[in-house]
Amino acid sequence: MERKVVFSGLQPTGNIHIGNYLGALRNWVLLQDDYDAIYCVVDLHAITVPYEPEDLRRDRVETAKLLLAIGIDPERSLLYYQSQVRQHVELAWLLATLTPLGVLNRMTQFKEKSDKAGRNLGLYAYPVLMAADIMVHKAHAVPVGEDQTQHLEVTRDLAEKFNNRFGEEFPVPEQITPKVGARVMSLQDPTSKMSKTDPDARSKVLLVDPPQVIRKKIRSAVTDSGHEIEYDREKKPGVSNLLEIMSQFTGRSIDDLVAEYHDTLYGHFKDAVADAVIEGLAPIRDAYTALADADVEALMLDGAKVARERAEDSMASVRAKMGF
Ligand code: AMP
Ligand code: TRP
Repeated sequence: MERKVVFSGLQPTGNIHIGNYLGALRNWVLLQDDYDAIYCVVDLHAITVPYEPEDLRRDRVETAKLLLAIGIDPERSLLYYQSQVRQHVELAWLLATLTPLGVLNRMTQFKEKSDKAGRNLGLYAYPVLMAADIMVHKAHAVPVGEDQTQHLEVTRDLAEKFNNRFGEEFPVPEQITPKVGARVMSLQDPTSKMSKTDPDARSKVLLVDPPQVIRKKIRSAVTDSGHEIEYDREKKPGVSNLLEIMSQFTGRSIDDLVAEYHDTLYGHFKDAVADAVIEGLAPIRDAYTALADADVEALMLDGAKVARERAEDSMASVRAKMGF
């Protein structure tokens, strides 16, 4: 039986953190076993906010290296840069003609980002390009964090709309989001999500942070009033966030961790969280340092070649259905 396709994308914006890892990237690695896996460094999405070409060049290859370092295996998964497969952009244009403005006006990510970055057509059309990424590979499943739910809904609507209007072509993709870790919160403000663009470096642990930096950031994490280690996202958002992080890195349940640490001091608990994160990230950091840029770029070119062929297959059928 043919395996189902899983697709996801990551923006090459640097600062990849444990929120990205727990919310999405870890699932990318796991899903390679059971799916036909396709993963993309979405560099065309990254230029929808102000940027420097030099930074983009560096962040692209660093993002690719990180994906390899966490365990994306080029023998089992297709990995490439979005900008090297033009069919993404072509399908985005076709889908744009099926996208009502009202839908785009509701996107919270657009509102948030345009407050900071200004409004441009690319940022507005971002969800349409994302839908095209997924649909050009006829993906069935998309592993992403909770913050992408709205974009996935747009994708599903576009798939259904296309199928109804032009004939059955696209699967309606399902979102894959972990139960714990779908929304890792900032270490400095546990009521907002850990974010690549937060200017406060202490708000997030990066996948390539050295151990002493990880420990320092976790020690300085904002915790809550009271002394007990308890899980309650409303009343104890800081401690609960750390519990979730530790649970994900150790594979132990939250209940189990609470039972062990309930009566210990915050300082002791934070050190235990730091140990777990340091241990979990060590192999990633080692693998990352061992990779050479030139080898990775060659691998990405190979990936793009295969991705172009596969995307072109889909596009031939899409063009024909639409009357071209
Ligand atoms: P981004 O940082 O927007 O490029 O996100 C890359 C992936 O990580 C997406 O699948 C997001 O849903 C996921 N993600 C980003 N921030 C978090 C977070 N704080 N917690 C969980 N998942 C996240
Ligand atoms: N919007 C996603 C994010 O910010 C990145 C992305 C672009 C993506 N295209 C995609 C994710 C396709 C999944 C599938 O994280």
